[in-house]
Amino acid sequence: MTMSVPQASQSRAQFLREQLNHHAHLYYVLDQPALPDIEYDRLFQELQALEAQYPELRTADSPTQRVLGKVLEGFTPVEHAVPMLSIRTETDTQASGAENFDARVRRELELTADAPLVEYACELKFDGLAMNLRYEHGVLVQAATRGDGETGEDVTQNIRTIKQIPLRLLNMTTPVLEVRGEVYMRRDEFERLNERQRELIAAGHKNEKTFVNPRNAAAGAVRQLDPAIASKRPLSFFAYGLGEVQGWNVPLTHSGILDALKEMGMPVCAERTVVKGAAGLIAFHQRVGQHRDALPFDIDGVVYKVNSLQLQKRLGFVTREPRWAVAHKYPAQEQITRVLAIDIQVGRTGKLTPVAKLEPVFVGGTTVSNATLHNEDETRRKDVRIGDQVIVRRAGDVIPEVVSVVPDHSVTARERSASFDLFKQLNGRCPVCGGDIVREEGEADWRCTGGLFCPAQRKQAILHFAGRRAMDVEGLGEKLVDQLVDSELVKTLADLYQLDVATLMQLERMGEKSAQNLVDGLNASKKTTLARFLYALGIRQVGEATAKDLASHFGSLDRIMQVSVDELLQVSDVGPIVASSIHRFFAQAHNLEVLQALRDAGIHWDEQVGAKETSAQLLAGQVFVLTGTLPNLSRDDATALIEAAGGKVTGSVSKKTNYVVAGAEAGSKLQKAQELGVAVIDEAGLKDLLG
Ligand code: IVH
Repeated sequence: MTMSVPQASQSRAQFLREQLNHHAHLYYVLDQPALPDIEYDRLFQELQALEAQYPELRTADSPTQRVLGKVLEGFTPVEHAVPMLSIRTETDTQASGAENFDARVRRELELTADAPLVEYACELKFDGLAMNLRYEHGVLVQAATRGDGETGEDVTQNIRTIKQIPLRLLNMTTPVLEVRGEVYMRRDEFERLNERQRELIAAGHKNEKTFVNPRNAAAGAVRQLDPAIASKRPLSFFAYGLGEVQGWNVPLTHSGILDALKEMGMPVCAERTVVKGAAGLIAFHQRVGQHRDALPFDIDGVVYKVNSLQLQKRLGFVTREPRWAVAHKYPAQEQITRVLAIDIQVGRTGKLTPVAKLEPVFVGGTTVSNATLHNEDETRRKDVRIGDQVIVRRAGDVIPEVVSVVPDHSVTARERSASFDLFKQLNGRCPVCGGDIVREEGEADWRCTGGLFCPAQRKQAILHFAGRRAMDVEGLGEKLVDQLVDSELVKTLADLYQLDVATLMQLERMGEKSAQNLVDGLNASKKTTLARFLYALGIRQVGEATAKDLASHFGSLDRIMQVSVDELLQVSDVGPIVASSIHRFFAQAHNLEVLQALRDAGIHWDEQVGAKETSAQLLAGQVFVLTGTLPNLSRDDATALIEAAGGKVTGSVSKKTNYVVAGAEAGSKLQKAQELGVAVIDEAGLKDLLG
């Protein structure tokens, strides 16, 4: 090292290299990040700046000198025919970020101020992992990760499980066409996966873990050596470019390439556009920013690409980044903050959820001061304690959550507050009603046993009862339920039907009109169906489908109240856990009192004694799956018709499915039916079956 570099800068650079390499390993290799992306980016930029100032500091092991990622054992290395590049990131999240890019492009192209605006293709920066799909003569022959950009890993068998990726291109048989794009996991799939993982962990599967974000879940799935497991982690894909091409006349613009890929059956995100000049870029950045939360998947920003391939060629590359593209970021969805306290919330079913009270922090577009810790085991596994610095994440409309603790090595283990113990913290009592709390074996959650005596559960239970798919009471919202329970006007579900206009008008901000509307809504809800009523009761484990099964199997409430666990087990899809939950509900005296009071209040439905046996059950025992849009029947109508005839409607196609009813734009379910050889009918076919 030459004398010109100050000692302080030398040691700072070394520290930064070590930190960055360490976190890159945690992140890319182990899928266990311990630092928010923004913090990583900040350290990275600091190192870049130091190296720019003192080029001697740019050592071979500097993370700025390579594209991260490492070939793991167990996958065959694949050398990319055309290197997989990265994109320069513009971290200035303001409009100026876009203006700077446009100005740079114009400068490099030596355009004068009066030369026409440059045309750009704008798209999303998907937050997943890059994939190269190689099609030979139109057939998918290989899928490879980016790896270090030169050499990736062969993950073909896992990628083949992604239903969105065509195994054969449409009308395209050129010798070689490599499609590049992003493999990602949708947010809803991510939530579902983590929910499943939490259940597995609760059931004692020690080797399972939850994933910190959709990208890590996707990366884990792609690198999963067992494709059977990989296929249970539902992944998606968007194409955004090309690799090697042989024998195909490539379109002249980037947008033209994406259009062509779409024609070939590749998933191409619809959220893209072609604009002119910086103003167009800014408008796109703002528009996407406004509905970023509503997207079904995470994005990392947007990408601008010079649209003309000829201009792209003129602009060329700097090291591994093209001069013709840039990623323009948004404010981060993860931030660091401090845990001030851990509270415990009581849900509708009495579930006790630990919630971290945080030093307020701006993340994902809003100020967050509460974040869920999910349950006791998660809290302990992440080892979150009061006073800790934590990473919080808020993406889309998902509830903010604590991702992990930022280790603070200046604090010794002894100095940290006690590790989380839910029972101890609550002294074994529900924080709302003081009832006993229990955690049954194999369950992830502690629960309050107070039932409807617990005001917290009562509020949630009333909201559920009044819900659209339950009793469908118009005009009974969250605020009103809070008022009704807090004022003790409503202690049980049946009290709802005792409310009159005069009483309601005593509540704050309640006018005569709203009061009358609620009373009308309550009266209108009295005529219902047995299935809706059963569902509305909020019996644990009894969702809409089970409520329908119970109603059609037993036909009357009295019957359901009397039957044994064994008899309940006769109902399709009712297993021991569900059966015992139902049985327990009807064994409790206070529940029976509420039921009687509800009936006394005038709630009624048409009972069908012995429904199963007597009515014309043309479709008894037949399992249906609906997909696509039917010409005349809505999904609810079709379901009602099938169920009225004794059939059952489920959400996914399996060997047990008897018929798939397919309408316009039927998707993967139709494909699955064809694979499994399940009969596929249309609306007319369904009507024939129904006689
Ligand atoms: S183009 C020449 N387009 O971002 C540029 N990349 O830093 C090659 N990414 O890991 C990439 N969305 O997987 C491109 N619309 C998009 C993208 C995108 C996400 C990822 C890509 C790569 C990283 C590049």
